Amino acid sequence: MKVLHVAAEVFPLVKTGGLADVVAALPPALAAQGADVRLLLPGLPPVLDAVQAARPVLDIGTAFGALRVRLLLARMPGHHLPVYVVDAPYLYRRGGGPYQDASGEEWPDNLQRFALLGWVAAHLAAGDADPGWLPDVVHAHDWHAALACAYMAEHAPTPAASVFTVHNLAFQGLFPMHDWSQLGLASRLMSPAGLEFHGQLSFMKAGLMFADRVTTVSPTYAHEIATHEFGCGLDGVIRGRGAHVTGILNGIDCSVWDPAADPSIAARFDAERLEGKLTCRRALQQELKLDADDGALLLTMVSRLTSQKGLDLVLAALPEMVAQGVQLAVQGTGEPALETAFRMAQQAHPGRVHVHIGYDETRAHRLVAGADAIAVPSRFEPCGLTQMYGLRYGTLPIVRRVGGLADTVIDADVGDAATGFVFDAATPAAFERCVARAVQMRRASPATWRAMQASAMAQVLSWERPAADYLALYESALAATPARPGG
Ligand code: ADP
Ligand code: GLC
Repeated sequence: MKVLHVAAEVFPLVKTGGLADVVAALPPALAAQGADVRLLLPGLPPVLDAVQAARPVLDIGTAFGALRVRLLLARMPGHHLPVYVVDAPYLYRRGGGPYQDASGEEWPDNLQRFALLGWVAAHLAAGDADPGWLPDVVHAHDWHAALACAYMAEHAPTPAASVFTVHNLAFQGLFPMHDWSQLGLASRLMSPAGLEFHGQLSFMKAGLMFADRVTTVSPTYAHEIATHEFGCGLDGVIRGRGAHVTGILNGIDCSVWDPAADPSIAARFDAERLEGKLTCRRALQQELKLDADDGALLLTMVSRLTSQKGLDLVLAALPEMVAQGVQLAVQGTGEPALETAFRMAQQAHPGRVHVHIGYDETRAHRLVAGADAIAVPSRFEPCGLTQMYGLRYGTLPIVRRVGGLADTVIDADVGDAATGFVFDAATPAAFERCVARAVQMRRASPATWRAMQASAMAQVLSWERPAADYLALYESALAATPARPGG
């Protein structure tokens, strides 16, 4: 089984969120189960700098307004997976982020930048970009790669099957309709039955409509996105795909997130030897200049600071939480208003609240390892990874019952199997009551707390099972692809 993963980001080279973690960990997990896996990435500077032994496989020439486009084949640093890189200096070689410039403005040529990525994927699938390697499955991630599915459908009969994974339906890749002609797609696709979405053209829709199979990153989110509440206007399209939309829960990279071997934390620990976690906790309080209070519930959050993540609930509940003895350690970047509000919260609660506005992987490990609990009060959450990092480090998640949070955390009320605290309403009061339950449990029933830590740390979170599920999905997509010999 030859599988090409197409994405805009991959940890640790380019990362804006959990997508990068998934794209880093799923392909090697598939390879470990016998698949022949390659990646396709845009040639952003950190990608070109990090990949090894790059050699040109195709001189594409001019495409999407860029001169001198080349397809390179290289190896990923670390696990050495083969990676195709689209080298298009005009479109990709620039500072700033993968989607936005340094001031947070979307790149004005994102249509061309990500159409090129999908177009190259389709040519690899058709066998005319690298005749030496023909994928059976093209697996495109999020809107950035979604156009691969439309180009492949237009290229029919392409022997490869296409799989599209929605990591976040809220980011859709919408562009003005007048840019349509630049895509080189048939005009019949320029309609609501194609890529048109309320007068704009939607890359997300290309994936949802044209992929042979659509997945998302948790079973609950797969149900949610078929509803008006979570469907971001695309719920009708999603319902229209019926059983071809499924949810496969993400795993986490258990070698990167391993409390027994983590080089970034003050002391190593596991479920049998939790003393190291106490060392991490005290080291964290000291590092963050929080009161050395063993009785406090030390709550952390490592998050993009955006409305998705429900951080306004935390801000509103904060005075009450602090009064109950909670200490809060936040790390994140995002919307300026939220950054400012959290900075002010730190000033208002010295010794109880610490806020780090910034992005820092190593520091994130110290926060997850040292805290008692990790909050993820999201309004919606396709999967969420930080609650799983928390589970693995015996840092009990306090989460809203949505998406992947609902699928990974079992509420304390359930009894023996419980791993965390879950609330329903997206209100400060509901969040605060949930935190109060955690405070009470830790204070009054330390044995129950330890039992929950043990259940959390015993939860199987690795990529083995999801990778097997994806392989089964690829098989079924291939079996149903008419252009395949024997299909
Ligand atoms: P999303 O992709 O919606 O942001 P996830 O929970 O899936 O949410 O993934 C977020 C990833 O980004 C996690 O690996 C998390 O640790 C990381 N992350 C987010 N903000 C920061 C930060 N400020 N510093 C370090 N890591 C961060
Ligand atoms: C998205 C989602 C997040 C998910 C991640 C990886 O960024 O917001 O919930 O965990 O993708 O799939």
